[in-house]
Amino acid sequence: MRRMRRTKALRDLVRETDLSAQHLVQPLFVVAGESVREEVPSMPGVERLSITELVAEATEIQAAGVGAVILFGIPSEKDEAGSGAYDPEGVVQLAVRALKESHPDLLVITDVCMCEYTSHGHCGIVRDGEVDNDITLELLAQTAISHAEAGADVVAPSDMMDGRVGVIRSQLDEEGHSDVAIMAYSAKYASAYYGPFREAAESTPEFGDRRGYQMDPANALEGVREAELDLAEGADVVMVKPATPYLDVIRRVKDATGAPVAAFHVSGEYSALKAAAQNGWIDEERAVLETLTSIRRAGADLVLTYYAKDAAAWL
Ligand code: PBG
Ligand code: ZN
Repeated sequence: MRRMRRTKALRDLVRETDLSAQHLVQPLFVVAGESVREEVPSMPGVERLSITELVAEATEIQAAGVGAVILFGIPSEKDEAGSGAYDPEGVVQLAVRALKESHPDLLVITDVCMCEYTSHGHCGIVRDGEVDNDITLELLAQTAISHAEAGADVVAPSDMMDGRVGVIRSQLDEEGHSDVAIMAYSAKYASAYYGPFREAAESTPEFGDRRGYQMDPANALEGVREAELDLAEGADVVMVKPATPYLDVIRRVKDATGAPVAAFHVSGEYSALKAAAQNGWIDEERAVLETLTSIRRAGADLVLTYYAKDAAAWL
């Protein structure tokens, strides 16, 4: 076996998995206000950006070779109904318009959820202490339409309500947005690895947790069923999230569906690598590229990662 490992040229010739910038998506946090560039304490190297700064960042991301971003909004005010999520003049809607004007070739994906906009931090409307599935669906669809109207190429529902992909698909079509794709967060696990994101988005639930709608980490077959249901409802891409603790789920979803599969290398996965690197305990570049390669090897077509811009530069 060692004959084909002897030189770089030989190794390059037979490499099975290819990792390149074209498969990476950069997540970005957009905040209301002006001239804001504030680092997220638990995510060194990641900043919350207001729109002008976001546009400048997009230039660097594109220059590094990354062709797609996914936007998360942090509104100035939150309320029970999460009204900032579907406000046509909301922070994400304004950011999409600005990005599409300044960088028409950059693919813009938007996260569709309520938790960054609700005062209680849950991903839907709370009724009698529980997140109400069907009332939430209508607002998610409204959110997706407002993103499409702003010019989003892809909408990505991350709420884990049942039936949301179908409702979003049919309402997008009715409103003349049949070309807007849906990337569904299909197998989204109730994970401790979202901790730093919740600090960044100020979206930690005020009571309870998300186990009543996000998946049990012990279940893999259920992840495949979620992906199959989302595809039947009209999803174009299915996602597994987080990525590295769920490589087996990525492989199962890919094999079972054959559909485009995305994997989200989430905030806690980023922060864990970053912390070890900052302590000098691991070689950051090698560890990150090895991690992203493993996610691709497991079967992910695209990888959402806070390391996208850096990884693209290293590649
Ligand atoms: C919102 C959402 C979350 C993430 C993406 N969309 C957080 C959550 O469900 O608490 C996590 C992203 C990350 O941790 O990087 N529903
Ligand atoms: Zn949410």
